[in-house]
Amino acid sequence: MKEWDRFTKITKAKGVWLTDSQGNKMIDAVASMWCNVWGHSNPRLVKAIANQSKKVQHSSMFNLTNEPAEKLAKLLVDISPGMHRVFYSDNGSSAMEIALKLALQYWKNIGNKEKTKIATIENGYHGDTFGAMSVGYVPEFFGKFKDQLFSTIQFPVPNQYRIPKGYTNSEYTNHCLDKIEKRFAKKDDIAAFVMESGAQMTGGVVIYPKEFQKKISQLCKKYDVLFVLDEIATGFGRLGSMLQYEEQNSKPDIVAYGKMLTGGYLTMAATLANKKIYHSFLGEFNEWKHLFHGHTYTGNPLAASVAHENLKMYKENHLIKKIQKTSKVFEKFYDKLLDIEIVGDVRHKGMLMGIELVQNKQKKTPIYPKKSINKIFFEEGKRNGIYLRTLGNIVMLVPPLAISGTELESLLNRTVITIENSKPKVV
Ligand SMILES: Cc1ncc(COP(=O)(O)O)c(C=O)c1O
Repeated sequence: MKEWDRFTKITKAKGVWLTDSQGNKMIDAVASMWCNVWGHSNPRLVKAIANQSKKVQHSSMFNLTNEPAEKLAKLLVDISPGMHRVFYSDNGSSAMEIALKLALQYWKNIGNKEKTKIATIENGYHGDTFGAMSVGYVPEFFGKFKDQLFSTIQFPVPNQYRIPKGYTNSEYTNHCLDKIEKRFAKKDDIAAFVMESGAQMTGGVVIYPKEFQKKISQLCKKYDVLFVLDEIATGFGRLGSMLQYEEQNSKPDIVAYGKMLTGGYLTMAATLANKKIYHSFLGEFNEWKHLFHGHTYTGNPLAASVAHENLKMYKENHLIKKIQKTSKVFEKFYDKLLDIEIVGDVRHKGMLMGIELVQNKQKKTPIYPKKSINKIFFEEGKRNGIYLRTLGNIVMLVPPLAISGTELESLLNRTVITIENSKPKVV
């Protein structure tokens, strides 16, 4: 923390641009933590919040409901094949805690006492609360709390850039899937398999090989393990489709949404469950089958109003089609980026790009400077008019989804310059 003695203060934001108190402008290359959809200060979204704020700002969902939360739940179920009901929270970590509790309690509700374990894949990330940390263990982030985290069964992930020696990509993917099946077959004690949908973001922009997620989904069905997907960062267009679980031909029992749900304007997340899960929670009062979980701001009407407007805009503006088109701009920069001495790999899907920085291209050793890479890139990015945030040795480009082709081109040009200029400081 000592390195960060002063922070840049953002005082204005419009479209993809952030402006600080000194008048410096930066393109928001991380969509304000991967959630901004339409850019900042979008009049329709601002109006949705303003209108609702004149009616009900907040009222609890304990014993009550409200119109925006009901309308949004209906819309979410409509766009989510196989899903039946929605449980609201106000951040992604909580949405994943709820997903875990639903999955674990489901088995209790139907009288199964054996299925108590959670399986997952290495290096996933599901948030910073204790349950989410346990399931999404990223060693650098959570090592200090290891003693307090509950144990999970972890399987390797096929990271195409770092396939172990002796395997081809597809052999290693099959090896990972084999491991899962062998463990599923050995003991019937796994309540749920939890993973990010489509790609691991925080764990290093690991885009899954084709069929990987589908096959895990099939194994879950075969061995009666609940399949829980985290679409918080990867759904709603980030990877170029509305829902990754659909694109991946996978069938979750529980799925979590967050980040882009409100267009990045207010804090809201949702955990959706299928009929089977939902029905297991219905019982007489004294059966104690209901879920003891609720947050103060669950179903907040302001957040639900802006989320509903946001989703209407997705449809009206054909946002997913637009993303698929704009996403091609990234491809034009592959060669330019890979030509840079410290760029080992470039991974891209939809509106996500991970640029992996290495000391040595052949050995693929990650760069590891004494100073924080994040700070070096943040400062150099700011000089070049972009707000950048690295994760480990990876430069992440996660722009607002509706960024125009010209703006994205400008962002990528500035990124190339930023990496070039940062090189002497990181090698
Ligand atoms: C895949 C994934 N799940 C969950 C979370 C946690 O969301 P939040 O930061 O809203 O708690 C994140 C946040 O980055 C995420 O990337």
